[in-house]
Amino acid sequence: MKTSFPKSQIEVLLLEGVHQRAVDILESEGFQVRLESGSLSGDELAAAIASAHVIGIRSKTQLTAEALSAATRLLSVGCFCIGTNQVELDAAASAGVPVFNAPYSNTRSVAELTIAEIVMLSRRTFERSYAMHQGRWVKSASGSHEVRGKTVGIIGYGHIGAQVSVLAESMGLRVIFHDVVPKLPLGNAEPRGSLEDVLSEADFVTLHVPATPSTRGLIGAQQLARMKPTASLINNARGSVVDVDALAVAIREGKLGGAAIDVFPDEPAGKDAPFESPLRDAPNVILTPHIGGSTQEAQLNIAEDVAAKLLRFVNNGSTTGAVNVPNVDLFEQSRATPIGDDQKRPHRVLHFHRNVPGVMSSVNRVISELGVNVASQSLQTSGDLGYVVFDVAPSDGAELKARLDDIPETIRTRILW
Ligand code: NAI
Repeated sequence: MKTSFPKSQIEVLLLEGVHQRAVDILESEGFQVRLESGSLSGDELAAAIASAHVIGIRSKTQLTAEALSAATRLLSVGCFCIGTNQVELDAAASAGVPVFNAPYSNTRSVAELTIAEIVMLSRRTFERSYAMHQGRWVKSASGSHEVRGKTVGIIGYGHIGAQVSVLAESMGLRVIFHDVVPKLPLGNAEPRGSLEDVLSEADFVTLHVPATPSTRGLIGAQQLARMKPTASLINNARGSVVDVDALAVAIREGKLGGAAIDVFPDEPAGKDAPFESPLRDAPNVILTPHIGGSTQEAQLNIAEDVAAKLLRFVNNGSTTGAVNVPNVDLFEQSRATPIGDDQKRPHRVLHFHRNVPGVMSSVNRVISELGVNVASQSLQTSGDLGYVVFDVAPSDGAELKARLDDIPETIRTRILW
């Protein structure tokens, strides 16, 4: 494919030891890939990103508005992780720079951990193992149960909740769930109309909701009191969802059978910071350091997912999955048939603009004044940002770009081919 900018001149900078699979994918596309094993900041970051068209980071590199302003050739940012808090998303959007991440690459990892915890809690395995580490041999069937025939209650039947549903059912558990939006039940899973219905019926309640104002403190003393005294609570979602003080009290008072908690309201900043929690010495409680999604397979999935999104944007203009700009899905490379002299050929034009009344009239006026034939046009807006992609022929790309750049609302114009 003839592009207006050779792929071999696309510079990609990957920081923080992004998985090798992403390096391979981007290199095999012909891009120049530079690697930094750690994160950078300040002048070092500014110097490293100055000539980059694509920056790939994980969670540590802070791409603030100031940092982004040093990357004058930047087309896109890939966050090879789940969160995007480390990037000033509005600043990137207002420069016409889409930011991509991999929100669902570790779904299976979280679901598998959840299933394992259901079994471990049911057998009080961690408690017995802990006793052995302390030199005590607690060989007993007391309080140990199989999971077959028990009921798991899933709160939040999204990507992870639905995976847990399938896996749990294949092990002979009965599945009930509650979600705030209607969801298609998988297998024999049964929806319940309220959180309370799930809490009172389930032997295991597992939370898979996002951290939002409405899920903050979703499970407190009142909700715990509705659960069976033999039931267990699993939180592999977000720390803000559960009142851990109330949970510790319920477990110590024997009003709840156990818990597995991977996420906490205050998580230590790093491996050297101490971990404090009222759950530390509570019985039959599995504590894990926010590793629900941390597997090698998830890292590989993240690398493939983000690299693919970056490629689609750089090569095609598709912003599907971008977290900060309108999503324009371009599956087909529609090409207008070239007509006229050789100087004029088909182009794909990517145009980010401020979303104000009249801007599309200005864009279309330019197209019409240049006598350009439009083969297709895709427009999406969100808030004060608009993104339109059109395939045109025949046209003089340079003239078209110059005229579009002259429109006061234009943020950025890129001619793809
Ligand atoms: P998702 O967006 O696919 O699903 C969330 C579901 O929760 C949606 O169906 C939504 O309608 C539902 N929901 C929202 N508010 C609700 C409420 N008040 N009551 C009931 N349902 C509600 O999200 P996904 O990918 O399944 O992730 C779920 C959670 O897992 C997120 O909080 C995510 O941050 C967390 N997570 C944790 C990881 C870890 O390492 N422990 C790794 C990956 C995700």
